Amino acid sequence: MLKTKGGETHQIAGDITLTTQQGVPVSDDQNSLKVGSRGPTTLEDFHLREKIFHFDHERIPERVVHARGYGAHGFFETYEALSDITAADIFQRAGERTRAFVRFSTVAGNKGSADLARDVRGFAVKLYTKQGNWDIVGNNMPVFFIQDAIKFPDLIHAAKAEPDRDFPQAQTAHDNFWDFASLMPESMHMIMWIMSDRAIPRSLRFMEGFGVHTFRLVNSAGKSTYVKFHWKPKMGMQSVLWNEAVKINGADPDFHRRDLWSAIQSGNYPEWELGLQLFDDKFADEFDFDILDATKLIPEEQLPIRLVGRLVLDRCVDNFFAETEQVAFCTSNIVPGVDFSNDPLLQGRNFSYLDTQIKRLGGPNFTHLPINAPKCPFHNFQQDGHMAFAHAKGRANYEPNSWPAPEGGPRESPAGGFRSFPAPEEGAKVRERSETFADHYSQARLFYISQTKTEQKHIANSLVFELSKVEKVAIRERMVSHLPHIDRELTALVTKGLGLREAVKPALAAKETRMDLKTSKALSILQNPPPSFGGRKVGILVTDGTDRKVFNSLVAAIAAEQANFEVIAPAVGGAKASDSSFIEVQQKIGGGPSVLYDAVAVLPSVEGCQALLKNASAKDFVSDAFAHLKFIGCNEAAHALFEKAGIEMDEGFIPLESAKGADAFIKACRKLRLWDREKLVTT
Ligand code: HEM
Repeated sequence: MLKTKGGETHQIAGDITLTTQQGVPVSDDQNSLKVGSRGPTTLEDFHLREKIFHFDHERIPERVVHARGYGAHGFFETYEALSDITAADIFQRAGERTRAFVRFSTVAGNKGSADLARDVRGFAVKLYTKQGNWDIVGNNMPVFFIQDAIKFPDLIHAAKAEPDRDFPQAQTAHDNFWDFASLMPESMHMIMWIMSDRAIPRSLRFMEGFGVHTFRLVNSAGKSTYVKFHWKPKMGMQSVLWNEAVKINGADPDFHRRDLWSAIQSGNYPEWELGLQLFDDKFADEFDFDILDATKLIPEEQLPIRLVGRLVLDRCVDNFFAETEQVAFCTSNIVPGVDFSNDPLLQGRNFSYLDTQIKRLGGPNFTHLPINAPKCPFHNFQQDGHMAFAHAKGRANYEPNSWPAPEGGPRESPAGGFRSFPAPEEGAKVRERSETFADHYSQARLFYISQTKTEQKHIANSLVFELSKVEKVAIRERMVSHLPHIDRELTALVTKGLGLREAVKPALAAKETRMDLKTSKALSILQNPPPSFGGRKVGILVTDGTDRKVFNSLVAAIAAEQANFEVIAPAVGGAKASDSSFIEVQQKIGGGPSVLYDAVAVLPSVEGCQALLKNASAKDFVSDAFAHLKFIGCNEAAHALFEKAGIEMDEGFIPLESAKGADAFIKACRKLRLWDREKLVTT
C-alpha cells in the first residue's frame, strides 16, 4: 500500500499488473488525470476514457423472453446404441459421454425478476456432439399456450408487463394476460399446467423437462420415427406452495439459482434421464389428437417412455455473462439423424431464435463465442462481420474451387452430411388452422382429472388468485366461461372463489370435450413422490444452550439421507451449545425464514426460547413452517414458541430428544409435506 496525500487505497502489483486493453501497464487506477489535484480532468486520459467507455457498454439487450436464467455445464451419457432408430452420432455408442450446457429460465419476467414467479420454466439443453451442436430448447411443461408461431408476439406482449404502466413484473395476474388467454381457447390446456404447482417448482433440480414438439429421428437407412423428448429428474419432482413462493421471492429472489449453484458446488450433481416417446405414422394417425399440435401431449401410459441416457450437471459457469448470458440456443440447431416435424409452432421458432440472437449478441459471429462454438471441427466459407475471430487460412473463400487441399478448404459430405427427411408434402397454399387442432378442452380436462384432490384445489386457488387481480369483470367471466368444458367442480370452485353472483354461460366450443380419456398418473406431481429426502434442506433453529447431542444426531441423520441443512440463530456469529461447544450459524433469524427450507427443526434451550417468544421472526419461522405443511422436528422447550404462535401441534411435529427421534424426523420428511394439514390452514 502506498501512502498518499488524498488517503485513497493503492494496491501495488505483485504477480499480475493491471493494464489497459491495449496492454499498457497502469500506474494509478484511483485517480483520473487532472490539471492540479483539484483541477479539471484532461481529455487525454486514455485510461479513464477506455475504462468508462467499456463500462458504458457492458449491458447487452436481455432476451426478449426467458430473460432470467441460470446455466450450468455437464455431460450427457448414452445408455445404449440407438442406431436402429437414429443416425445421430450421440446415440451410436453405449456409455459415451457428450459435453452439455443447460440454461433454465422463467419466461415473462425481466433479467432481474424473482425466481419463484408463477411461470413456465425454460429447460434448454445444448449437446456438443461430434457432429455438431444439438439444442433441445424445451420447457418444464410438455405443452404450450398457442398452436401457431404467428401468435407468439401476441402471447408474450399479453403476458409481460402492460405497455402503458410497465407492470406487473413477472406475473400473469393482470388483465392483458387473461384477456388474451380467455380469447384463445387453445391455451386452456397450458392454462391448467401454469395454474398448477408445476409453475412454482421447489428447485430447478426437481422438475421435468420436455421438448414439447414432435420431432423426427432418422436412421442411416433414411427411416423416420417420430419422437417426443422428456427429461426425468432423478431426485423426483417437488413444488412449493403459492403462499410460500410469494414469501421466497421476498426472502431470496435468487432462490433457484442459489440452489443450483450450491448443489453443484457441493458435489450434489443434479441429474435427469432422457426419455423418448417413439412412434410411427400409424400411431400418429390413430392417436386422439394431432401430433403436430403443441397444445397436446401423448400420455405416458398410452405411449411409454424409453430412457436412453442421463444428463448430469457437474460444473458451474466461470463467468455468468460469458456463458449463461451469451449462450444462444436455437431449435434449428439439429444434427444428422434428427429432424423437424411440421408443427407450425416449431417451424416459427426455427426462424425466431437465430433472428433475435443476431441482435441480442451484436452480429452474426456469436457462434464463435466459446459457449456457442461446436467442440467438433467446423469449417465453412462464412467470413467477416462484426467481431469475427475465427478465420480460415488461405486463398479460397468460395466453392466449388480448383485450389488443392488444404488451401481449397472444406467440401460437401454426401454420405455423412445432414439430410432432411424427404417427407412428401403437397397442398394448397392456405392461411388456415387444421380441423385436427380444434379440440381445446379434452386434454385440459385430462390434466385436471389426473391430479390429486390437493393439486386440483391448488389449480382452482391459483385461478381465483390470478383472476382476482383482473380488474375488468367481463374478462374474469370470459375466462370462467371456459371452465365448464374442463370440469364442473373446478367451475364451481372458481365461481365461488371469485364471488361471481351468477353462473357464467359456457363459452362456445369448437369441439365437445371428450369424457372418455383415461387419467394419466404421470401428470401429477404428488402421485410421483421423490425416492428420498436427498438433496432437500432442513433449517435448524438453535439458541445458546441448544443440546449438542440432539443437534449432532440430527445433523448425522440429515447427512445419512444426503440432505443438507442450515443453522438459524439469534446471531449469525454462532451459538454456544449446552456443552459450551460452538455451533456454526449460517442465518440470523429473519434472514433465514422457514420458506427457504423443506423441513425445519426447532431446538432452543429453555432460556433461549424465552427470548424467541419476543421475536416476531421466530414466530413467523414456526407459523409459516406450519402453514406450509412442513414437518417440524422439535424439543420440548420449543413448545412454548408454538403456543405463542397459536399453533396446535399435530402428527407433523416429531420429537427430537434422541438419535432415534432424528431418524424418525427424516423418515417423515421423505413425504415432504403433511398434506392433511392443509384443510386447517388457508393460505
Ligand atoms: C413450445 C414452445 C416454446 C418453448 C418450449 C420455448 C422455449 C424457450 C427457451 C427455453 C428459451 C430460453 C433459451 C435460453 O435459455 O437461452 C426461449 C427463448 C426464446 N424463445 Fe422460445 N419457446 C417456445 C416458443 C417460442 C416461439 C413460438 C417463439 C417465436 C416464434 C419463441 C421465441 C423465443 C425467443 C425469441 C427467445 C429468446 C432467445 C434468445 O434471445 O436467445 N419461442 N424459448
